[in-house]
Amino acid sequence: MKVNGTPTRPIWLDDDGFGVNIIDQTKLPHAYEVVRMETLADACHAIFDMLVRGAPLIGATAAYGMALALHADATDAGFEQAYKELYATRPTAVNLRWALDEMRKQILPLPVAERVKAAYALSAQICDDDVAQNSAIGDHGLKIIEEIWEKKGKTGVINILTHCNAGWLATVDWGTATAPIYKAFDAGIPVHVWVDETRPRNQGASLTAWELGNHGVPHTLIVDNAGGHLMQHGEVDLCIVGTDRTTASGDVCNKIGTYLKALAAHDNGVPFYVGLPSPTIDWTVDDGVKEIPIEQRDATEVTEMTGRLKDGSTATVTITPQSCKAANYAFDVTPAKYVTGLITERGVAHPSKDGLVQLFPEFA
Ligand code: MRU
Repeated sequence: MKVNGTPTRPIWLDDDGFGVNIIDQTKLPHAYEVVRMETLADACHAIFDMLVRGAPLIGATAAYGMALALHADATDAGFEQAYKELYATRPTAVNLRWALDEMRKQILPLPVAERVKAAYALSAQICDDDVAQNSAIGDHGLKIIEEIWEKKGKTGVINILTHCNAGWLATVDWGTATAPIYKAFDAGIPVHVWVDETRPRNQGASLTAWELGNHGVPHTLIVDNAGGHLMQHGEVDLCIVGTDRTTASGDVCNKIGTYLKALAAHDNGVPFYVGLPSPTIDWTVDDGVKEIPIEQRDATEVTEMTGRLKDGSTATVTITPQSCKAANYAFDVTPAKYVTGLITERGVAHPSKDGLVQLFPEFA
């Protein structure tokens, strides 16, 4: 995607072939700042403190984090220490484990002297694969939007509700939930996006709104609890969200609040789709509610809010009584029965083991 007309990814190798640049997403939409990572600690900080976030981008950052770590120490012990530290940064997005396991499979068998170069090459490959996968998700999702457009007699607009940011900032390009939206918009289909603000970190308000605005896609920000009301009044044609981990049986873990949107969609007969590249499927788990670790983050993310003041500076304010306790569950699980389809790079799967295995027979 483009920022001010320049093709931009949220992660890229710097010109010296060593440092890795990222967009600091904690500063958006108020400031656009690029941060250069040079060490394992930089990569862990970037993931843990959410300078980068979104499942596929977390995976890509972990891969480059391993390349940076091996640059300092390419021995087996260096690899294992880096694996441990990167793995501990965030627990829910399975792309993190997937990327580290790819590194283990492909880099560790090599002689120590060859590991650094190969780790950078594999990181670049993981990034390029993610772009291709998301573009394919966009093509498959576009067909769904086209069908709805036909059914509406090609009149009015198609209203799409999305939650959190599963856009290009959360991946290496295109996004997962947003890829079909961008492709539909580029094809001239009049789409309009309801953007859930996505408390407490406001990824919808800060990131999705910024992305869609940059691309010229019409959108309206809504509070997290508005979606059900809009669905009851026929104002949502479909929902598309991303996921941090989808089980082999099609249960979808995504940003907290996704489950409630899926329930409202189910009650109102609104199709509920999930965009996901295959590294987001965790083939080792079936029951998402029981088996997926749900990240709990610092309570201050709930009790405080950061925003821009009229003079252009940013400030953080407390919105609760001083002694108020808060719980901060970052994700929830939507059972497969509430999901209409899983839009993968190989096509749209029925949200079930059979549906996924039809598209990915190598995991049967
Ligand atoms: O806590 P975040 O911002 O990393 O959560 C991101 C999401 O929940 C996204 O919807 C998910 O990672 C899919 S990104 C294509």
